[in-house]
Amino acid sequence: RSEPLILGIETSCDETGIGIVRGRTLLSNTIASSMDEHARYGGVVPEVAARAHLEALEPTIHAALAESGVALADIDAVAVTSGPGLAGALMVGVGAAKALAVSLDRPLYAVNHLVGHIAADILDADSPPIEYPTVALLVSGGHTSLLLVRDLTSDVVLLGETVDDAAGEAFDKVARLLGLPYPGGPEIDRAAVTGDPEAIRFPRGLSRPGDMAAHRYDFSFSGLKTAVARWIEQREAAGEPIPVADVAASFREAVVDVLVTKALAACRDHGVPRLLLGGGVIANRRLRDVALERAAAEGVTVRIPPLSLCTDNGAMIAALAAELVMSGRPPSTLEFGADSTLPV
Ligand code: KG4
Ligand code: ZN
Repeated sequence: RSEPLILGIETSCDETGIGIVRGRTLLSNTIASSMDEHARYGGVVPEVAARAHLEALEPTIHAALAESGVALADIDAVAVTSGPGLAGALMVGVGAAKALAVSLDRPLYAVNHLVGHIAADILDADSPPIEYPTVALLVSGGHTSLLLVRDLTSDVVLLGETVDDAAGEAFDKVARLLGLPYPGGPEIDRAAVTGDPEAIRFPRGLSRPGDMAAHRYDFSFSGLKTAVARWIEQREAAGEPIPVADVAASFREAVVDVLVTKALAACRDHGVPRLLLGGGVIANRRLRDVALERAAAEGVTVRIPPLSLCTDNGAMIAALAAELVMSGRPPSTLEFGADSTLPV
């Protein structure tokens, strides 16, 4: 049986992503981002994102087709993120996907954004196939989730997630406290280079013994953000200068420490010596280094897809749908809608 040619649509946040895959082969991964429009607000504005998707979808679909040399008429199935994400933004993609599927008379697959992030790794041509089960840690501006994946198409369990801010969101908010521009992740990463990660001991969220009993795989970053804000306020009140590099390095260390500690605890608890990383925060050098180093010490292998597949994109959505098609899953009926809190 030939491999399915899938067009995937991703509009859950600020990236309009169109991806085209044939089976497990990536043909195009085209992205239009409205990031610049959100920059002056210091975070993604849902209404602005939805409108930007509406404008970007059609040209991005054409760009993806041109890049892959695929004709729209040859597409075997359409895939779309139906959630979780920003409701208005999701709706634009879902509407477009339905229209496309109906007009082409092709099956439509509604897929989960988080599971899509895991599927991104399949498209990494330089790595051997993913082995299951694996633990997956997804960290971006919109989510911080720890999952146990026994089978990508039928058995993905959410172990835990953030109870407040996403890790990327925390980077963005702390960057703002330090007077650094949006998006804050790369800025903090840069500022931290010359800083001392042990200069200030910031709190590790949900890591005390009591918290570890009730929230073993959950994350919390709002307390950390508040702690950084307090620390800066106190220095300012005392008329002392803010050591930006040390604050950035110490904050980054607190985030990275808790992410890696909990991900490796999940590997240990479930007897799974494999960890897959995804999401835009994986761009963080320190996170990659600490994860690789501490995982190696515990005999856990780490998979990190290329960054272009880690950030939100349509190729991962197409890749997941291709797996569903190849596993014999029937397509979605047209009744589904955007679900901002869609569970895995
Ligand atoms: O996956 P992504 O591109 O979009 C979504 O949020 O879904 O992730 C963007 C987030 C932003 O919060 C940004 O500040 C963060 O990822 N980020 C980083 C780094 N690069 C991007 N956070 C920490 N360190 C980085 N180097
Ligand atoms: Zn995402």
